[in-house]
Amino acid sequence: MAALRSPIPIEELARSSGEFSTAVGLPPAAYSDPGFFEFEMQAVYEREWICVGRADQIPDPGDFYTITVVGEPFIVARNKQGEVNVMSSVCQHRAMCITAPAQRTPAEWFELPPETSGHGNTFRCPYHWWTYDLDGRLVGAPDMDRTTGFDKSDIRLPRLRTETWQGFIFVNFDAGAEPLSPRLGRLDEALANFCIEDMVTVDPATVPGLPFNWKIMAENFMEGYHPSRLHKGIHDFAPSSGAEYAPYEPGDAALFGAMHAIHPDGGFNPTEKIIFPLIETLTEPERWKIQFAYIPPSLLIGLQPDSAFWFTVQPTSVDSHTLSMAYIFPPSTPQIHLFAEKLHAAIQGVELFNNQDLPTNTAVHAGMKSRFAPRGRYSWQESVLASFNTWLVERYAAADERARAAA
Ligand SMILES: [Fe+2]
Repeated sequence: MAALRSPIPIEELARSSGEFSTAVGLPPAAYSDPGFFEFEMQAVYEREWICVGRADQIPDPGDFYTITVVGEPFIVARNKQGEVNVMSSVCQHRAMCITAPAQRTPAEWFELPPETSGHGNTFRCPYHWWTYDLDGRLVGAPDMDRTTGFDKSDIRLPRLRTETWQGFIFVNFDAGAEPLSPRLGRLDEALANFCIEDMVTVDPATVPGLPFNWKIMAENFMEGYHPSRLHKGIHDFAPSSGAEYAPYEPGDAALFGAMHAIHPDGGFNPTEKIIFPLIETLTEPERWKIQFAYIPPSLLIGLQPDSAFWFTVQPTSVDSHTLSMAYIFPPSTPQIHLFAEKLHAAIQGVELFNNQDLPTNTAVHAGMKSRFAPRGRYSWQESVLASFNTWLVERYAAADERARAAA
């Protein structure tokens, strides 16, 4: 597709950049205009590092799961050498999704193939049985012997560039993109004592079709202004007055900060205390806060003194996204007595927040479509939103400039 210009003037978008004290919210059309969404996908999701999950979700060679990124179906698989490949699941014969079921019920006939996971040595397209190995090489193509010049070894599933940071798998559609990890040094330092790379994923879940713009999800996750209001009562142990964010500088690949708590070892559940064993490597000050990190555009991480959790955000339209989420724990935690019961209690605790955040996000999205939608001002407790805008506008401006130069 041709490079798109921004349908919203860059000068207008730029009013949302900089310090929270002077910035205004992004233009409502940035949350609601399908044309802006097309531009934004080119400017952001097709050029930046997109998190597709954790390497520990596929610990053994042959383990795989599927994921859809920017509307494209992919397989995330560990090969025989132990490396993680992220490759297109579009068969290079007739474009069937190779991980689709061979048969579905009438209610599913016209739905897209479901996400799946499993273990195997090859992927066989259900349509004509073209078969690919764990590196995407075509290793089987029945009855192609009379086809002139056909050579299996010429064909493989397209692979995306991948990078792993702290156990998270990232992909990039842009072969020329700067590596990610070297730009995450300050975040690495801030989170070092969590030993995130060694943590294990528990209970990953994917929720498709969340009916609000992807940025509304990220903003709600990161900003510390609403917890003492929308979550009054259940978030009181980590009040909004304790919100503090690391300053954002151009070139940073992460936004992060913390909510300082009024007691140590707080947790997001009705006891307001951690449920799992304390992460032993944390310092005393680290026990007195809840930390939040965002590696835009897709990965959100929350860190409590006993555990962490992550969300990945995959936009599907201007009005919707798919959210994947999971807990991560130190490897010893899932072995404790009554772990499953404690996990159940923790998930129920998070539900209290979701019951407030998810309908709020849905209503905010509807509000952004109103003729009366504001470009509102920011509190210091949500200064991270101005930083996020700054990150976005850098990308919007660069993409608009590339499109202008190309035209
Ligand atoms: Fe919230």
